[in-house]
Amino acid sequence: MPLSVVILAAGEGKRMKSALPKVLQPLAGRPLLKHVIDTARELHPTAVHVVYGHGGEQVRGALNDAGVSWIRQQPRLGTGHAVLQAMPQIADDQLVLVLYGDVPLISRATLTQLIALAGPRSLGLLSMRTDTAGGYGRVVRGANGRVLRVVEHQDANARELKLTECNTGVLAAPAALLRRWLKRLGNANSQREYYLTDVIAMAVKDKIAVRPLVAPTLTEVLGVNDKAQLAYLESAWRQQTAHALMLAGVTVADPARLDVRGPLTHGADVFLDVNVVIEGRVVLGDGVHIGPGCVIRDSEIGAGTEVFAYCVIDRALIGPDCNIGPFARFRPSSMLARGVHIGNFVEVKNSQLGDGSKANHLAYVGDSELGKRVNIGAGTIIANYDGANKHRTVIGDDVHTGSNSVLVAPLTVGAGATIAAGSTVIDAVPAGKLTVARARQQVIEGWQRPVKARKP
Ligand code: UD1
Ligand code: CA
Repeated sequence: MPLSVVILAAGEGKRMKSALPKVLQPLAGRPLLKHVIDTARELHPTAVHVVYGHGGEQVRGALNDAGVSWIRQQPRLGTGHAVLQAMPQIADDQLVLVLYGDVPLISRATLTQLIALAGPRSLGLLSMRTDTAGGYGRVVRGANGRVLRVVEHQDANARELKLTECNTGVLAAPAALLRRWLKRLGNANSQREYYLTDVIAMAVKDKIAVRPLVAPTLTEVLGVNDKAQLAYLESAWRQQTAHALMLAGVTVADPARLDVRGPLTHGADVFLDVNVVIEGRVVLGDGVHIGPGCVIRDSEIGAGTEVFAYCVIDRALIGPDCNIGPFARFRPSSMLARGVHIGNFVEVKNSQLGDGSKANHLAYVGDSELGKRVNIGAGTIIANYDGANKHRTVIGDDVHTGSNSVLVAPLTVGAGATIAAGSTVIDAVPAGKLTVARARQQVIEGWQRPVKARKP
């Protein structure tokens, strides 16, 4: 059956104690709701409907390009009422999968299994087993093991409260029947809410098979209500991603101290030291070695390159066999060819560096194009900004800049030029020559050091 997904996300999330709506709180760098939308998308549904309420405009605004249909639930009268709001948009031939916007780690594999249990005359119900059932709804089964109904914790009797199989809230049901059931829901319960869970008993009464699936892991059905639960799922994510990387051959110094917040593509024999943070799309070639404390965002690093401790690399394309850091920083849009060395306290921004070029200590390389084998001396600054506009600097092959030189852009430096230490160059530097642009050293004969005046 074609699939329509309904994601419930109208809850207030007061326990987050945050100005940011709950479903926009980031997990692994992505809003909770975005995780659910992304997983839903992997099922190739006809449509994804998000039922929103509290902080709604902010949620819509943040996820505007997520390609979902937005349905406002106002007022909030319960999960059954929430799903009903989406039903006018869903045709009778569809299978409806209900997900929660605050249950971010639900897996595609589990959902695929659940969907397979549902059909025109059957319903799939995702449950979980837990010893701490607390406020969850309980799945009540008959003597033969068949599911009879779901009872909310607030409405359960002592015997039902002892049940350890709980409702996750996730279910898959045929739209035609679900529509009928939802319209018949009442709110004669302890919370005066329209419970989605009441459709289970209705299905049983209509002789529709209710097929339960017990979630294989607890983390994928856990919801997030406060920052402690958010951190718990973040750590679950951390374990999952590190585990997958290790099985794919990456050496991870400590899986508890690696954060991967986006798609990471890697070659063989990659090493990730402790406290590495990977964000966005990152590609690491064969044999890449990332030292401790590095943050790498939306970047590519070529085979054999070694990144030493505490580097921040943002939107850079780093070639093979480079040495980076320790303590190097790449601001967006830089491209390094093969064998480039960027050393400690060097900042590189919007620049291209040719094969074998080096800036080993304390330098700023901005808005510039360096040829091959250029050596940027310690303390060299490329002054790219005149206070109003940025200008480019073009440096030919085999140029050496002396320590503490300032290259004022726009500027060209010819191949093989040497710039003397302490120079401030503002005009084009000719190829193959030594350019000195500093005051000459003078020795003053007969000069006397002043002496302190005597107090009268
Ligand atoms: C619900 C289930 C319960 C299950 C539990 C799992 C019902 C009646 N109960 O409990 O059996 O064990 O989830 O967490 O379904 N929401 C809306 N609109 C509403 C109400 C809720 O969009 O009017 C959304 C919330 O944002 C949340 C989800 O639905 O994402 C569940 O709501 P919540 O109040 O957390 O769950 P319970 O009703 O307590
Ligand atoms: Ca509730």
